[in-house]
Amino acid sequence: MDRVVVVNLASTEPPWNGTIPDTFAAIEPALDQPADVGSPLPASSLYALAAFESGAAYINFTPSTGASPRALDEVARQRGLPHAGCDGKTGETLLKSVLAPMFAARNLDVMSWVGHNIFGNLDGRILDDPANKAAKVKSKDHLLGALLPKPPQTHVSIEYIESLGDWKTAWDHIHFRGFLGTPMTMQFTWQGCDSILAAPLVIDLVRLVDRARQNGEQGQLGWLASFFKSPLGCTEQGFFRQLAMLESWVAEQPASS
Ligand SMILES: NC(=O)c1ccc[n+]([C@@H]2O[C@H](COP(=O)([O-])OP(=O)(O)OC[C@H]3O[C@@H](n4cnc5c(N)ncnc54)[C@H](O)[C@@H]3O)[C@@H](O)[C@H]2O)c1
Repeated sequence: MDRVVVVNLASTEPPWNGTIPDTFAAIEPALDQPADVGSPLPASSLYALAAFESGAAYINFTPSTGASPRALDEVARQRGLPHAGCDGKTGETLLKSVLAPMFAARNLDVMSWVGHNIFGNLDGRILDDPANKAAKVKSKDHLLGALLPKPPQTHVSIEYIESLGDWKTAWDHIHFRGFLGTPMTMQFTWQGCDSILAAPLVIDLVRLVDRARQNGEQGQLGWLASFFKSPLGCTEQGFFRQLAMLESWVAEQPASS
């Protein structure tokens, strides 16, 4: 119990419309306001704050706000705790972060990238709500703009199809131009089991964040970017460059550990 790591695996919450101040000093007085006045933070950030105040490291596996605000990172650092997020990169977005650098490296001009996702678990049912879906679509969509020289037209859909249960199907259609402006298309179909893809990442994240804590690392752990769709503390979105950051962190660890 000396080294607890809290992982947010709760349902995706809708995007938070309020402004979150940059310093914890500006938030703290509002935390004691009566419930009808409203919270200064979304539920996921209150959980993150509770984790830090209990002396626990924290991982946000969801697209919810969690410990992303600067003020929450400040609390983590004050307490000497590391944290990582956001939104586990387990399926279609993982493929985007592998394939997009290839198009860029070969100077293939991606004009549009459309991704349709269908699945039928409880996460899918929650994401069927347009408010909750908005947070997920944003998290799945933004990386292409960072990976390609010119942001393509994009479309991401997420639909709840009950009979599919935990088996997610993603169909992606990538329209691109090669030499002499010749248009071409790549399509892929990803059929993955959501929980089986996520579980080993969560286990590895807990072990890595715990080790970072033992090393005395504090605040956002950017070298864990390869695990996330919206990595904190790292602007790199390409999977293999992210993986190189993880590998170089591992190489620095003492051989006996
Ligand atoms: N491959 C994956 O499974 C994957 C990948 C990336 C991100 N995620 C994210 O991980 C989260 C969990 O996914 P899941 O498939 O396990 O979902 P799930 O719907 O099976 O489980 C979510 C659980 O959170 C509970 N919950 C909802 N609001 C809560 C709150 N305020 N406090 C505490 N618990 C609350 C629900 O009752 C439910 O038991 C989702 O946000 C999802 O988007 C999952």
